Amino acid sequence: MKEWYDAIKEAQSVEKLEEIRISVFGKKGVLAAEFAKMKSAVNEEKAQLAKELNTHKAALTDELTQRKVVLQTLELEANMKAEAIDVSLYRAKCQSGGLHPVMETMDRIIEYFVAMNFAVKTGNMLEDDFNNFEALNLPKYHPARDMQDTFYFKDEMLLRTHTSPVQIRTMMANKPPIRMIAPGAVFRRDYDLTHTPMFHQVEGLLVDEEGKVSFANLKFILEDFLKYMFGDVEVRFRPSFFPFTEPSAEVDISCVFCKGDGCRVCSKTGWLEVLGCGIVDPNVFDAVGYKNVSGYAFGLGVERFAMLIHHIGDLRSLFEGDIKLLEQFQ
Ligand code: DAH
Repeated sequence: MKEWYDAIKEAQSVEKLEEIRISVFGKKGVLAAEFAKMKSAVNEEKAQLAKELNTHKAALTDELTQRKVVLQTLELEANMKAEAIDVSLYRAKCQSGGLHPVMETMDRIIEYFVAMNFAVKTGNMLEDDFNNFEALNLPKYHPARDMQDTFYFKDEMLLRTHTSPVQIRTMMANKPPIRMIAPGAVFRRDYDLTHTPMFHQVEGLLVDEEGKVSFANLKFILEDFLKYMFGDVEVRFRPSFFPFTEPSAEVDISCVFCKGDGCRVCSKTGWLEVLGCGIVDPNVFDAVGYKNVSGYAFGLGVERFAMLIHHIGDLRSLFEGDIKLLEQFQ
């Protein structure tokens, strides 16, 4: 009998174990043969033999059951190992997105003015001649229109050349006081290192009672704003001309590249022009029917700000959708 115990212990598979079980417990198995021998045995021997055989029967049954559990567990483990999927092997190539530098810059600009209690207004990209030019003191055939050539549709409709028409729309729809900015896309017939046919501006307008709004107010807020955007820079106001403001100024910051020493980017001047502004021209108030008011306005190009903040050389690269460039800003 001993060899059967050994056979059970050494069995390496559930199938092998089943073969052993049949050899031991089957009709023609070892135990059956041993029990058959009892027939020829005498009484005392018979009882003894029967006892022995039953003990073996119980013990072998136990051994079989135990070994079966062990072998089944081993087989299950082996199967699980063989079928295992290495989830780390196939990395899904998905990249998380992020804001485009122009939109991120726009958001920062909006953040500043919202904190200063300015409302955010949007106008129409398809604008009419009145809002885009006429009401802004740019009469037909005025030479200043040449600088803002754009794409025209029928019925004097055009793609807006600046966000200034939102000033007009806001004043026509509301009574003073007004405190608004207008971020958005604008369009012009330009294409070079620093110009694209579509770009973004943020317009600003503040209107209050006559005598309440001064150039000093304008200077204060723009200086504060430019330091918020560019850090510790010098700010300078230069007399200029815009049809919709009088007096008008262009605003420069000390060059962010050379800190004012003079380099290629600032054409050796040490200064970079960043926005236009002024005191709202009375003709603009006349066009919208506002009386006894004063105000200031300003306008800036968002791409120019993004280029100066991120040191980008060619404005056109902001519109190429090149991941290699864009992912540097995430
Ligand atoms: N609209 C001007 C432009 O596109 C920018 C501008 C300058 C807006 C002065 C203003 C302003 O409101 O006061 O070039």
